[in-house]
Amino acid sequence: MEKIRQEIKRLMRENRRSHDGFQYTLPSPELYPFQWLWDSCFHAIILSHFDIEAAKNEIRSVLSRPLPSGLLPHIIYWKSHDAKIQNWGREMRGDIINASWKTDGTSSITQPPVIAYAIWRIYNTDNDTEFLSETYKTLRDHFECLNKDRTFGDDHLVYIINPDESGEDNSPRFDRALGLAPKHTPDENLDHRISLMRDNASCNFEAKACMDDIFGIADVPFNTLYINDLEHMALIAEALGHEDDKAIFSTRADAVRHEMEKDLKDGILFRSYDNIHKEHGSALTWAIFMPLYSKLLSTDDARELVDTYFNNDQYFDAPYDIPTTARNEEAYDPKGGFWRGPVWMAPNWFTYHGLKKYGFDDEAKRIKESSRALVERSGFREQYDPETGEGLGAHNFTWGGLIIDM
Ligand code: GLC
Repeated sequence: MEKIRQEIKRLMRENRRSHDGFQYTLPSPELYPFQWLWDSCFHAIILSHFDIEAAKNEIRSVLSRPLPSGLLPHIIYWKSHDAKIQNWGREMRGDIINASWKTDGTSSITQPPVIAYAIWRIYNTDNDTEFLSETYKTLRDHFECLNKDRTFGDDHLVYIINPDESGEDNSPRFDRALGLAPKHTPDENLDHRISLMRDNASCNFEAKACMDDIFGIADVPFNTLYINDLEHMALIAEALGHEDDKAIFSTRADAVRHEMEKDLKDGILFRSYDNIHKEHGSALTWAIFMPLYSKLLSTDDARELVDTYFNNDQYFDAPYDIPTTARNEEAYDPKGGFWRGPVWMAPNWFTYHGLKKYGFDDEAKRIKESSRALVERSGFREQYDPETGEGLGAHNFTWGGLIIDM
């Protein structure tokens, strides 16, 4: 492990950039030359193992450009406006920026909340209350915005307005909502997402309008992470002596927990809900394991879930853990599928910790060993083929660093 640890340190150092007095880390200099919200949370957690100042700086930069609504954007472009994103072999810059986020230097959508947890992890290493207070207002505004703009009526489940807000851009969970068949080309998927971005822009990214008329999904991983982050907001508020906020965030976390159980649970599975088509998604993805992370299942149900789907080679037990889409799904494409089969390290990290929370140590060990084997065999790649372990997509991709936290 010491050798990998050194390699992780080197990768994190090499991908680090500075601009305007801020410091941030590129997920991959080659393909992702900007700053991404949930990536920066992963970076902060990785860095908290060996460079606490760099971890704090990563958080400072990712909090530095909130939208007027308070929402934290999923991309900060910094100076690299003219850089090109190669995605699906297509140059994305023109498409993304011309679809026009209607902002200056950031996107107008967000990504799953891991930010409060990342800040809490940093705080746990050195009890720096000043750092907590420095970040608190921006953090609080982000969660207030999610609560105000991304929910319906008195409900608390939050909705995403674009698949890219899930962090799993082309996951088959969003096929039906995008009007796509389980088998389609990467180009078709991208065309549908770009067209959705244009539709979102046409209503100025006003989430309520988007969620009602264009695209609105109560996604399982997003809401699971939202519960976890609300619980960490309560801890942060408590550490800062904000007793009222503490009560607000923990009551909200309980409400989301309750609504996930009431509205998204179907037997032992949680399924994302599409508000436009008024239906629950049916594609089986690794997201079925995500509820373990916020302990949404009873021990018996969790055991059944793991035995039925995780320890079963028809679904998710592949030579390399864990495929992001079940092996028997029509959409499964382990090599070229992006989020339609290949292994990604963040899902492995979430699932590892979810399994640990239930004491399923053998299964957690399987993920940990697989994750290490993938990095040792194929290096720090964006994704890996679960059938062969071959590295796919971007090189020098930071998420492999998460194995330091397993
Ligand atoms: C891809 C991933 C997304 C990630 C981004 C930068 O778009 O799907 O989750 O944040 O790359 O790494």
